[in-house]
Amino acid sequence: MRGLLTFLVFCWAVMFGASYASATGLLLSEDEIGLVLSHGPWPMESASDPSNVMSGNRDAIELGRKLFFSPVLSSDRQTSCASCHVPDLNSTDGLPRGKGTRSLDRNTSALYNLRHNRWFGWAGQNDNLWAQSLAPISHPDEMQLSDQGLKRSLAVSEFRGDYEALFGTLGDDDPQQVLVNVGKLLAAHLETLETGRTAFDEFRDALERGDLETAAVYPAAAQRGLSLFVGRGGCNFCHSGPLFSNGEFHDAGVPYFIEPGRVDSGRHGGIKALRASPYTLDGVFSDDPGKTGAWAVQNVITQHSNFGTFRVPGLRSVAETAPYMHNGSLSSLDAVVEHYSNIDMERLHADGEALLKPLNLNDQQINDLVQFLKTLSAPLPEL
Ligand code: HEC
Ligand code: HEC
Repeated sequence: MRGLLTFLVFCWAVMFGASYASATGLLLSEDEIGLVLSHGPWPMESASDPSNVMSGNRDAIELGRKLFFSPVLSSDRQTSCASCHVPDLNSTDGLPRGKGTRSLDRNTSALYNLRHNRWFGWAGQNDNLWAQSLAPISHPDEMQLSDQGLKRSLAVSEFRGDYEALFGTLGDDDPQQVLVNVGKLLAAHLETLETGRTAFDEFRDALERGDLETAAVYPAAAQRGLSLFVGRGGCNFCHSGPLFSNGEFHDAGVPYFIEPGRVDSGRHGGIKALRASPYTLDGVFSDDPGKTGAWAVQNVITQHSNFGTFRVPGLRSVAETAPYMHNGSLSSLDAVVEHYSNIDMERLHADGEALLKPLNLNDQQINDLVQFLKTLSAPLPEL
């Protein structure tokens, strides 16, 4: 079906594209239109997560939401997930790097559209959302609560009744299982957080229908930026598909020194953490007897080329979640586009990316790309 539609648009573009272009203000070539279509449709189809028995369960989602805001999951009884993933800051903290009991090594991720990811965290240190969601609870620099501590804390909390209604008597549970259960409740909530439709989506769907009148509403600057994004800029090699991410790991030329003498090994360390984790899709805590998706963790191996690569972030609503990059080192979208425009080839490691080279954009082109990125913003769901 999708192929047919693409073909029809292609025919339409071949027959009328050129002559319509000046009359309608459509600034994209046929090839570019085909690439634009590949960034939708939105929303994507989604199914519940087979590794999480609580996925899609209404009571679990509600309890997961309450736990997200609750200091019951922290040893100091003052920190919640929302301390760093702040609702007023669109699920981030606005800081370059997260701040727990000390400064963390990475930028606090936004929490939208997570259900479509294969890997979680900047280094893909987890292969499922519940594992990523339980990690901060015991992390020494984040919530610092042991499995035992979590079980005790939950037992005396107002959530005990709701927890037991879903998982049975808390008293009988192994503390590690309690941690996993809490991770699954949090994940059930987080996977409901999807960004809405954007000006870009209206444009893309109008192109697919051949509806030039609606397409013409999309601003010229954004069209020029989009044309750079899928064309000369080569951005869509990595920022591909409806999420504007291929879901994999690349080196975008961001320095990986955390402080003098200490580097963030990115995917290299992420794979090590993943292989050591008891909480993968291949492990005993997955609820999926079919082990869907476990092939990925079974097959990843650390290679030199993984060093200093990070997960390609999706770009939906990116304008709402500054600062940018794994270390929050770029404060605005202008700064990000300038970074790609002047990319320092010395910073890309030897066996790194052949996809990036300095684009030498002028001010208008930089602005066009930023205007395009802003059309990926949508009303955000409440946390
Ligand atoms: C002290 C600050 C802090 C707290 C508290 C915190 N987070 Fe985070 N969160 C971060 C940072 C920093 C990252 C990026 C970590 C990385 O990739 O290494 C992150 C990443 C994530 C991600 C990954 C998103 C993605 O795109 O892969 C999820 C999911 C998440 N946090 C959920 C939670 C939940 C659930 C809680 C509460 C149990 C929580 N966080 C508590 C700072 C925090
Ligand atoms: C080789 C793959 C690749 C290409 C090509 C690429 N990117 Fe990226 N992009 C990444 C990776 C990887 C990151 C995260 C890098 C990091 O944190 O170290 C990123 C980060 C970003 C971010 C920040 C997102 C956030 O939430 O922090 C934006 C915006 C962005 N890219 C836009 C672009 C644009 C615009 C282009 C084209 C000019 C482009 N990218 C080309 C891989 C790529």
